[in-house]
Amino acid sequence: MSIPTATPNSPVDNSIASRPGNIGAVPSLLAEIQQGIQDLDTSTDEPRKDLLVRCRALVQAIETPRENMVDHIWGQMGVISAVAFGVDCGLWVLMAQNGDQPQKVTNLAGDLGVDPELLRRLMRHICAMGLFIEVGEDEYRPTNYTKALRLPQIGHGYLGLASSTGGATLKFHEFSRQKGWENSTNQQDTALMSAYHTDKDMFTWVHDQGYGQHLNDYLGGYNLGRPRWMDPSVYPVQERLIKDADTGPDAVFLVDIGGNVGHDLERFHRRHPHAPGKLILQDLPMMIHQIRDLDPVIVRMECDFYDEQPVKGARAYYIHSTLHNWPDHLCDVILANIKAAMRPGYSKLLINENVVPATNAHWETTGLDMMMLTLFSSMQRTSAMWYDLIEKRAGLKIVKIWSGGKGVESVIECEIPWEE
Ligand SMILES: C[S@@+](CC[C@H](N)C(=O)[O-])C[C@H]1O[C@@H](n2cnc3c(N)ncnc32)[C@H](O)[C@@H]1O
Repeated sequence: MSIPTATPNSPVDNSIASRPGNIGAVPSLLAEIQQGIQDLDTSTDEPRKDLLVRCRALVQAIETPRENMVDHIWGQMGVISAVAFGVDCGLWVLMAQNGDQPQKVTNLAGDLGVDPELLRRLMRHICAMGLFIEVGEDEYRPTNYTKALRLPQIGHGYLGLASSTGGATLKFHEFSRQKGWENSTNQQDTALMSAYHTDKDMFTWVHDQGYGQHLNDYLGGYNLGRPRWMDPSVYPVQERLIKDADTGPDAVFLVDIGGNVGHDLERFHRRHPHAPGKLILQDLPMMIHQIRDLDPVIVRMECDFYDEQPVKGARAYYIHSTLHNWPDHLCDVILANIKAAMRPGYSKLLINENVVPATNAHWETTGLDMMMLTLFSSMQRTSAMWYDLIEKRAGLKIVKIWSGGKGVESVIECEIPWEE
């Protein structure tokens, strides 16, 4: 097959590269943005997300394709490297300690022990990208964004995900070409493995690079401020789980499978402190050993989800943002192990994952799909894919899909079907 390439005779007029994307759309987009601002004052976050999408469309309409391109490959890439530098050398922690006042590059560089000329260049770029407020030459006032970088849940994503796995994304095309442009679903042969010449999976790779804790911090906080599965607006925990739960001394209420270092269970316990029965956190030994602080009410259990599920008859088995890491044939094994442990008529399986809509998918959902593709040869699934995996292949029944909102994981509530 010949690969189409741009040639001097290609039918695209060069001048489009330096003209705004769609300047004619600006008046209507501005009107929609104006309307969106008025709609902000509601109890849900959806109007704000819609407003952001409109604002992005406005920038796109005004920007030229050339500006788009350099924004991606100079601007955004430069931000990632400058912010990661700031996380690693302690810039964001120091600036947060200094408070909201304007801060001089030379003072910061002196306190951090970094070359002031280097810090000057990095901070200048971060400011030029709109992320600092410049108050004078080499003097910047923090913004909420730069202040938030001090939080491990925000800052550590730049090291634990972007810089330690970024080669997979940037070299994906080469991997894909080698695979004949197929939609790869082999978890033992991923773009990440190809980019870094390793046979390690993503979690082991990041851990062995020394960024395991950073990845866990990011995982614990990447959905900060978004609806959680146990919020009444998403899933009615009291009515669906607590109401008919066993209250005996050995009863298990919730097993979090692939629960990482326990952030979801801790949050659940804070929200529902009187739910009856044990809360059990399961993950691989490598992850359980990384736990620093965990509410002692939560039972830690080393458990590989490809092995038999040792906890039988829990009220609910919960698995969050984990099946999307694995292709169908491996999810079959994970689901079979859970199903075998479920008590028919009592246990529920709660799969907390994105359900990709057929149209108008939100960029957070598609962006995460790109991560799944390049890091795991895996995917975010559509509703049809979930039904196929859960009902046809695993023989479970989807009782209901409880939506979390645009770009947010839904709760797919499953049971053992009656006839079994
Ligand atoms: C994307 S993280 C999701 C973590 C957590 N559920 C959350 O939503 O933040 C996937 C988790 O699966 C765990 N995991 C990977 N392979 C596993 C296995 N074979 N058995 C159990 N857990 C595993 C990883 O260690 C990691 O904590």
